[in-house]
Amino acid sequence: MSRRRQIYEGKAKILYEGPEPGTLIQYFKDDATAFNAQKRGTISGKGVLNNRISEHIFTLLGQIGVPTHFIRRLNMREQLIRQVEIIPIEVVVRNVAAGTLSQRLGIEEGTQLPRTIIEYYYKDDALGDPMVADEHIACFGWASQEEMNDIADMAVRVNDFLCGLFAAIHIRLVDFKLEFGRLWENDYARTILADEISPDGCRLWDMTTNEKLDKDRFRRDLGGEAEAYQEVARRLGLLPEGEGNMVLDLDQHRQRRGK
Ligand code: TMP
Ligand code: ASP
Repeated sequence: MSRRRQIYEGKAKILYEGPEPGTLIQYFKDDATAFNAQKRGTISGKGVLNNRISEHIFTLLGQIGVPTHFIRRLNMREQLIRQVEIIPIEVVVRNVAAGTLSQRLGIEEGTQLPRTIIEYYYKDDALGDPMVADEHIACFGWASQEEMNDIADMAVRVNDFLCGLFAAIHIRLVDFKLEFGRLWENDYARTILADEISPDGCRLWDMTTNEKLDKDRFRRDLGGEAEAYQEVARRLGLLPEGEGNMVLDLDQHRQRRGK
């Protein structure tokens, strides 16, 4: 990995220069953070699972016509992506009350929302990613009105698709976070889906037991986070029965050998 030029290191991923202009390699780490990195840890095998899960979801979204940065998976922890200029807005879509929505408004976690809510957060670690309104985004020029229209349309399409995808494997999609980027073609920027979609940025509850199958297990010290991510991958058909541990064992072996 050190052979390549590192472009950016985030909390859960590293971006390296890609093989061709306009491409990057996205490397998925096992590192986990919460509460703006005040809590830190690792979830063994998370990078491998998120790489596969995000590949699967972005591929399906591409097939229904949602443009994404994903090109192809390269190996267990890396995927080739299109280089975009990240729009500094985190888009949170909520179907069921949980997390900060419940805390802020006193709505019991698990309450089905009568309509889907889309929220925007300004991506700025120093400010702790504050929630902002369309007015702030327009006023400070973080995204154009046209980009915000495209983002809202895509967020709704992604939500409808993912709710069905997860319902089919008996998982309730409570909420999730999306990021978008500008893909420059000459002087024109197209808005496409970027970053990742994985249990790191989604709340996924088993439909019968409400068991949490996402990063809340880490945020809330519930334990069993690696098993929860594996369960999501398994239900999506990405870790055939019995093979799950083999894939992750192989990765552990390679990590130890420093490859
Ligand atoms: P919240 O309830 O903490 O605001 O989170 C809403 C959703 O957004 C939840 O699925 C987790 C995800 N999320 C991220 O992916 N990154 C973040 O930095 C935060 C705060 C939330
Ligand atoms: N983005 C958060 C952090 O900065 C992680 C989270 O709560 O999802 O640590």
